[in-house]
Amino acid sequence: MTLRWFTLVGAVAAAAVGVLGVVSTTAADRPTPKPSEQSLRALGARHGLSVGTAVDMQALDDAADPRYSSLVASQFSTVTAENVMKWALLEPTRGTYDWTAADKLIDFARKNNQRVRGHVLVWQNQLPKWLTDGVAGGTIGKDELRGLLQKHVTDVVTHFKGKIWQWDVVNEGLSDPWDTPNEIHYKGFWNEQLGPGHVADAFRWARAADRDVLLFYNDYNIEAFGDGGPKDKVQFLYNEVNKLISQGVPIDGIGSQGHLGTQYGNYDALQVADTIQRFTDLGLAYAFTEVDVRSQMTPAVKSGNSAEMNPRLQASAANFSALLQGCLASRHCLSFTFWGFTDKHSWIPTWDFGTGKGAEGMATLYDESYQPKRALNTLKADLLYAGPPNVQPRIAHKPRRDLPAR
Ligand code: XIL
Repeated sequence: MTLRWFTLVGAVAAAAVGVLGVVSTTAADRPTPKPSEQSLRALGARHGLSVGTAVDMQALDDAADPRYSSLVASQFSTVTAENVMKWALLEPTRGTYDWTAADKLIDFARKNNQRVRGHVLVWQNQLPKWLTDGVAGGTIGKDELRGLLQKHVTDVVTHFKGKIWQWDVVNEGLSDPWDTPNEIHYKGFWNEQLGPGHVADAFRWARAADRDVLLFYNDYNIEAFGDGGPKDKVQFLYNEVNKLISQGVPIDGIGSQGHLGTQYGNYDALQVADTIQRFTDLGLAYAFTEVDVRSQMTPAVKSGNSAEMNPRLQASAANFSALLQGCLASRHCLSFTFWGFTDKHSWIPTWDFGTGKGAEGMATLYDESYQPKRALNTLKADLLYAGPPNVQPRIAHKPRRDLPAR
């Protein structure tokens, strides 16, 4: 009886091999899907790397656009709120919080087994009007403003306690070489109002509200070191972070936004890897937090002229890849997040980068009709054809707390 059963199974299996060319039939060693059919999140998981996207909550909720939410769920293991955790959206009226949209994202992430990056606690943009008007009109003075910032950081971190993996505590606090003066310096609303000490304060307030969350400083144009001089933003950040660590400030990681453009020189993977290592040698974790690669939308590009499109698509793939390979090279580079994944919902065409809205675009992995671009398979290949000795599994970071000054 048993023998006959085996014979039957064997015959069926042999037939399957003959017809399908498939050798094994058990679930454990079912043939892996073709590389192009594997998801980014599955390929990232081979290295313990979380692959994420910023999420536009309107698109996620849009029943007429089901591809959006299905790709967020299937391709990514980390999500970031593109807007709904920003102060203007959380507290549009002073003293009244609206957590609805942010909580929806947390819920979506839980259902889809995703981690959440919190974005953002201290930033000069997307502040509530009551706050900026109050400061401009003189009804909110410096002491009150500092108290409001402390309350904001505390309330928001407390609300999401236990649900967020990494917080962007301070965002875009530094100038760029094209600002005046061109020596890098702290800049923006919070620095003008409260001075650079607000950075250390914010990290301490965030840590006091959640002992277990990883706390990040997040910025753009910090993908690779420059000449080490006074115009080198990465060098300035490195020096400042080193100081914060020596003062016992609980900073856990550096978030590099990674907003690149194909019209710029950008960086190669080795420059990126060197930069990550300088920071991680300080004991910090690292993350790419807002990666996209935009291109100039000339009339020919807009009309779909392939002679102008192809070099952009190739340069875009190469730039995405330089950041991902640099990240893979470090066991402390924990997550790689795209700032949106389809041109249909990308912020780039809505933004004026100096030459008008709509002048730049094509910045994401899928076009406006959700067709994958060259960059998607390039990144899948980077994840697939990497492993020991040069690419090793990520090392989890413990939050820094109760630190004495060194
Ligand atoms: C952008 C959003 O993508 C837009 O929808 C919004 O209008 C403006 O902000 N750096 C950041 C992000 O840290 O929060 C910004 O997000 C993009 C640049």
